Amino acid sequence: MGRCRRADHRGRRAGGAERDLRCHRQAGADPAAPPYRSAPGVSCALRAACAALLLWAAPVLAQPAAFQVVGDTIPASLTGTPGDAARGRAIVTTRQRGLCLLCHSGPFPEEPFQGDLAPSLAGAGARLTKGQLRLRLVDGRRLNPATLMPAYYSTEGLVRVGRAWQGRTVLSAEEIEDVVAFLVTLQE
Ligand code: HEC
Repeated sequence: MGRCRRADHRGRRAGGAERDLRCHRQAGADPAAPPYRSAPGVSCALRAACAALLLWAAPVLAQPAAFQVVGDTIPASLTGTPGDAARGRAIVTTRQRGLCLLCHSGPFPEEPFQGDLAPSLAGAGARLTKGQLRLRLVDGRRLNPATLMPAYYSTEGLVRVGRAWQGRTVLSAEEIEDVVAFLVTLQE
C-alpha cells in the first residue's frame, strides 16, 4: 500500500496513466499521513512524479464532452439521445446525487424538507424550453455569474472542490439528459 513501484514509471505505455492514478490514490488514502513522507524504498521524487502525472491525467479522463451554447440554450442533447425522466426524478430528489432540494422545492410530496433559496421547480418545463433547462443545469454561471446554483457539468472555475471531485463533473452527460427529460415533464 502506498508504494509507487518503479516499474509503473517506465515510459509512457498505454495504461501508464491509470496505474499512476491508482498509485496516487493509495498514496493519499490515509488523510492523517503527510502526503510525501518517504516510505521505505520510495523516493519523494517518485511520489511527486505520481502527483504530477495525476494532475495531467485526471482532466483528460473526465473532460466534459463539447457542447454548443446558442443564446441562453444548449439546443442539442449532450449524449445525442434523449434522457430517461424516471431516472431524472430520482437524481433530483436524491440528496446524495443532485441535491436540488437543498435550494429548490417542487411537486415531490414524499420529500419532507425542501429548499426555498431558488424558484420552485413546479412548472419549470412550461417556463423553459429543453435547451434552456439544459444550459441552466450544465453551467448557470453563463447566465448569472453570481448564481448560487452549482454548475453540474463543468470542471472549470470552481473553488474548494473536494478531492474526490477534482477533474470530474457533478453529473455525467447521461445524468444531465435524464434530469432535463424529467424537468420538461413539470408542466404546472
Ligand atoms: C445551492 C442552491 C441550488 C442547487 C443545489 C440547485 N439549484 Fe437550481 N437554481 C438555484 C437558484 C438560486 C436559481 C435561480 C437562478 C439563479 O440564481 O441563477 C436556480 C435556477 C434553476 C432553474 C431555473 C428555474 C426557473 O424557473 O427559472 C432550474 C430549472 C433549476 N435551477 C434546476 C435545478 C436542478 C434540477 C438542480 C439539481 C440537479 C438544482 N437546480 C440545484 C439554486 C440551486
